[in-house]
Amino acid sequence: MQQAAFDQILNRAARKRALIPSISSGETNAYRLLDGEGDGVPGLCIDVYAGHWLVQTRDIPFPDSLRDRLPDGCLSVWWKALTNEESQRDAPIWIAGAGQTSVTGLENGIVYLIDFASGYSQGIFLDQRDNRAWLRRVCDPGDRVLNLFAYTCAFSVAAGMANAATTSVDLSANYLDWGRRNFAQNAIPCDDGSGHRFFAWDTFDFLKMAKRKGERYQFIVCDPPTFSRNKSGKVFRVEKDYGNLIARCAEVLAPGGVILCSTNHRVLTPWKFEEMVRFGVNEAGAQVVSLVFNEMPDDFTGEAYLKSVRVEID
Ligand SMILES: C[S@@+](CC[C@H](N)C(=O)[O-])C[C@H]1O[C@@H](n2cnc3c(N)ncnc32)[C@H](O)[C@@H]1O
Repeated sequence: MQQAAFDQILNRAARKRALIPSISSGETNAYRLLDGEGDGVPGLCIDVYAGHWLVQTRDIPFPDSLRDRLPDGCLSVWWKALTNEESQRDAPIWIAGAGQTSVTGLENGIVYLIDFASGYSQGIFLDQRDNRAWLRRVCDPGDRVLNLFAYTCAFSVAAGMANAATTSVDLSANYLDWGRRNFAQNAIPCDDGSGHRFFAWDTFDFLKMAKRKGERYQFIVCDPPTFSRNKSGKVFRVEKDYGNLIARCAEVLAPGGVILCSTNHRVLTPWKFEEMVRFGVNEAGAQVVSLVFNEMPDDFTGEAYLKSVRVEID
């Protein structure tokens, strides 16, 4: 693509993002600048983290227009070529500009640690921004929030900003440590006795223990990977196991509580996803009081692959 045409696409995309209040105000500087087909460039996505650009390509080469110069306001360029499932786990490679791997990004005024040297993802899933904002908005001080598949605890920190008490569960102790550092970045104490707990456990094992102990949560965030294998080799697949997972969540939900159910599994239609959620609630012998789909953030202009449902249960 010619340089001028590429610049035009970038400018148009930037103007669209400037219409998002938290981006134009500077409260959010970690967002999607370019979203493939949604911005007229199939196969190309650009995420911005405090001026540092992560360029992701799928089945196309790295754009020449970004090779020889840094666009205005861009501090560095990193590149991740997505060719198959495995390539998603590779760390991006540095192309140009500042070579620092660690930066801090802002989302609605919350600081998150970003690491370009990390494979899988850079510390935050940007497509969950509006869901995190929702959680922060609806939590009352002291509410108990269970964040399953917590990764770097981005949801927990958002709830912590509202003075909720959070429990973060993830197989990876390293990601939970990253989560603790995210809490610290926002001056939220998270040591023992602070009301914030971290379990480097399998989600299903945790839910079993929580049920046995009679734990109850006002909010549960349930956003698993499409596929995972725990330390004893047990496999989890969204399309097969999500309903059962929601049933186990419903067993530890406080009366009138809400589960935020989410998946980025592209082949699952919203209708099928809703059916699985309803099946899970019914299997636990509970009732759906309301079920509402949350939309993706406005900077995600391409395929609406992320399905998020808030389900209130009694
Ligand atoms: C897609 S990420 C979750 C993203 C997270 N919900 C967020 O919005 O930041 C997947 C996470 O699930 C964790 N995970 C995978 N299988 C798990 C399991 N059986 N129990 C607990 N955590 C698991 C991984 O270690 C990884 O951090």
